[in-house]
Amino acid sequence: MAQVNDPDRWWHGGVFYQIYPRSYADSNGDGVGDLGGIIGKLDHLQRLGVSGIWLSPVTCSPNRDWGYDVSDYRDIDPDYGTLADLDELVQEAGQRGIRILMDLVPNHTSDRHAWFVDALRGPDAPYRGYYVWADPKPDGSPPNNWMSNFGGPAWRLDEASGQYYLHNFEAEQPDLDWWNEDVRNAFDDILRFWWDRGVAGFRIDVCNGMIKDEELRDNPPATEDDPIDQQFMGVRSVYNTDRPEAHDILRRWRAVAGTYDPERLLIGETYVDDISVLAQFYGNGRDELHGGFNFVFIHAPLDAEAMRAVVEEVEATRPPGAWPIWTGSNHDVSRLATRWAGGDPAKVKVALVVLLTLRGTPFLYQGDEIGLTDGPIEREDVLDRVGARFWPYYKGRDAERTPMPWSAGAGGGFTEPGVTTWLPMADPSQCNVADQEGDANSVLELCRRTIAARAAHEDLAVGGYRTVPSPEGTWAYRRGESTTVALNMSDAPATFDDVGGTVAVCTDPALEGSVAEGSLSLAAWTAAVVTA
Ligand code: GLC
Repeated sequence: MAQVNDPDRWWHGGVFYQIYPRSYADSNGDGVGDLGGIIGKLDHLQRLGVSGIWLSPVTCSPNRDWGYDVSDYRDIDPDYGTLADLDELVQEAGQRGIRILMDLVPNHTSDRHAWFVDALRGPDAPYRGYYVWADPKPDGSPPNNWMSNFGGPAWRLDEASGQYYLHNFEAEQPDLDWWNEDVRNAFDDILRFWWDRGVAGFRIDVCNGMIKDEELRDNPPATEDDPIDQQFMGVRSVYNTDRPEAHDILRRWRAVAGTYDPERLLIGETYVDDISVLAQFYGNGRDELHGGFNFVFIHAPLDAEAMRAVVEEVEATRPPGAWPIWTGSNHDVSRLATRWAGGDPAKVKVALVVLLTLRGTPFLYQGDEIGLTDGPIEREDVLDRVGARFWPYYKGRDAERTPMPWSAGAGGGFTEPGVTTWLPMADPSQCNVADQEGDANSVLELCRRTIAARAAHEDLAVGGYRTVPSPEGTWAYRRGESTTVALNMSDAPATFDDVGGTVAVCTDPALEGSVAEGSLSLAAWTAAVVTA
């Protein structure tokens, strides 16, 4: 097995897997996934070959934003279990060589968090300064023109005190004031609380947005060059996100992470639309994030030229030592099998070979490994408040959060037959884990083979990336010294030159083991990994 010698980089050759706990596996028959359910599925993850799990929030939450509104950072929500269950998960996963990343939500708390409940008592309350408060304008309107990412003004009036508080998301998610040293200290303690329990690191929510302009300056008007959501809001988010001081906070956390052995990981939700800005979150390559999610890549089409351009820009802008992160799905975007592949299994397979063979660490989202498409959500099913607000123009994020189908039949192996699940489940007989087991043509077995190849070949695990020439509509790259990935992302057959070796993995399993002697021909929408 290809190993990375530095113990702090145990994850470089590995694959992470995001679990959305509400929808993974329900061990107590209440229609909601839980920690016991996840523990019961660790064997699946071990067979898949993952090295780490990112758990979307399992901390206490009134679920205004499904866990991303935290009311207690140091306890497990009873829907999911107890702290003892979390400890058991860390231990059971560890025995299978899998480490756990939790989700840290530092931009805001729930309005039910004890800090905010205290802050509402008035301007002199001890925790008032944990949040961003400001007086109205003379006409009583909000202090500035900032808009919430979830629609409407980013300020809500607290009638009791006559002041407004800031919320970049729902009004029930008041933003913390990261200029306040007490907030910084409180979060240092939260990091240690979980890291001392053996949690391997954090995915950091809204990592680029947590600190705001200290003077609360008005945002400038949006122009037609701005992202569509900002044009829709009418203002460009200059002062309420992407502030340079976010980097101070990341350096502080990296220093805390470095006091652990192995170093704890910081992977950020770096929601930026410019690759060179993404690179800045790596600091000098050693002093900020270990990894940042690449939303430019997520939003790129499944198109050889478009994706290759993103990858080449990452390679060109990253600081030395910085390690990319690759993702195609998560709990906020339509699943890759729908968004990228339009439900076509051949395209799903090619997309997964891309994710699993680029230089960097991929994060699969639960269900990607079976090519699961978005779930069936009608207007009356909507639970995501953003979807409820903007339906039908934006239907929200429920479709990518529906329960995981483990087997055909009632309950789909997610829960007991007859139980109503928290979000509707797609007909599990259409796509499920059990039916794909042992079928070499399945998405699941392709994922297993590709992840196993990463583990077996150092080139694929940690080797460099270099684009090699290939016909139009295709993409080919060399990993390390002598491994070639050839991707026919077109509707016609294609021949790749200058490819020699054994086909170690192919979306068409019949080609595996065949030898390419200088060139390789692939049918439409076929991907192959060739090792020397
Ligand atoms: C992040 C989360 C998303 C959440 C938002 C506000 O973008 O991924 O699910 O709604 O932050 O916390």
